[in-house]
Amino acid sequence: MSEIKRFDDLADFSTEEISALLALSNRLERHPEPEALKGKVLSLLFLNPSLRTLASFQASMTRLGGGAFVISPEMSIHGLETRPGIVMDGAAAEHVREAVPVIASYGDALGLRAFAEGRNLTEDLEDREYRGLAELVSTPLINMESAINHPCQSLADWKTMDDLDIPVSAGKFVLSWAYHPLALPLAVPAATIQMAAMRGMDVTVLRPGGFELPDVVMNKARRLAERFGGSVQETDNRSEALDGAHVVYAKSWSSTRHYGDKHSDYQLRNQHEDWCVDEPWFQPAETNCRFMHCLPVRRNVVVSEAVLDGPRSVVVAEARNRMWVQMAVLYAMLGPGL
Ligand code: CP
Repeated sequence: MSEIKRFDDLADFSTEEISALLALSNRLERHPEPEALKGKVLSLLFLNPSLRTLASFQASMTRLGGGAFVISPEMSIHGLETRPGIVMDGAAAEHVREAVPVIASYGDALGLRAFAEGRNLTEDLEDREYRGLAELVSTPLINMESAINHPCQSLADWKTMDDLDIPVSAGKFVLSWAYHPLALPLAVPAATIQMAAMRGMDVTVLRPGGFELPDVVMNKARRLAERFGGSVQETDNRSEALDGAHVVYAKSWSSTRHYGDKHSDYQLRNQHEDWCVDEPWFQPAETNCRFMHCLPVRRNVVVSEAVLDGPRSVVVAEARNRMWVQMAVLYAMLGPGL
């Protein structure tokens, strides 16, 4: 692979291509190339909030000698309308159908963040908003988190596990649902289990009833696990899930039983406030089992302070690795290639 045109989904890439991206990110971490993207511009459109993605993409471009600009609805721009077919007689004066190609035209590549609407599971699983906006863009495109994917986070998580020598075959990866007061998107859990399956790990999804991941997500991860030599299962039994685990990756997500129905979702999730990852959870796990989370995380709600501040936690390394892997993607997309 010499050049990347789209970075939508890790599953679009072969193991060899992902290995090459990870090797390039390690090389750029050790040996800076501050002129590799000289004169190149990255356009960044955030339709939703961010800390890590926003800062790490700007840092990535700067470290490679290029530049980036950011547009988000909170900035001093005309109100941005996203709904198709709308009569624009309200506050919004600009539609994404014009704004997106205009923003893309100022750069050599576009990074786009468009979260799930959280109303219609079918539409969100099909990633309709991201795909619809992507059709308006002719420059190379990077998914900075869509309704059902977060490939930059997943590549950084893969690098984090490699850096820590976490086993691949026979490595046990547990994605655990955790309590959170809000109904959050499925993007990170979906992207995370497929990443761990592509890494060849034995993946267990631990969640209470009503928070099963959709079949389309589980089946995709199972197909990838078959291809890459791992496995994927789902359970609500915590001690069984954590038995021999090398990694516990915590994340909250919406109830799939009540998707789009906030009231029923809250009634169900409020029964599981005790799903706060804490040290006793790790008793059946490997001694040095790691704790992972994509951040931002609510302390003593999703995970205890003891775990987050203790030696298991690698959350800051994951966030820092966002920068190195994104530099590799940008280098392959806009620079000398792989
Ligand atoms: N993990 C992640 O994407 O963080 P931000 O939402 O802060 O960008």
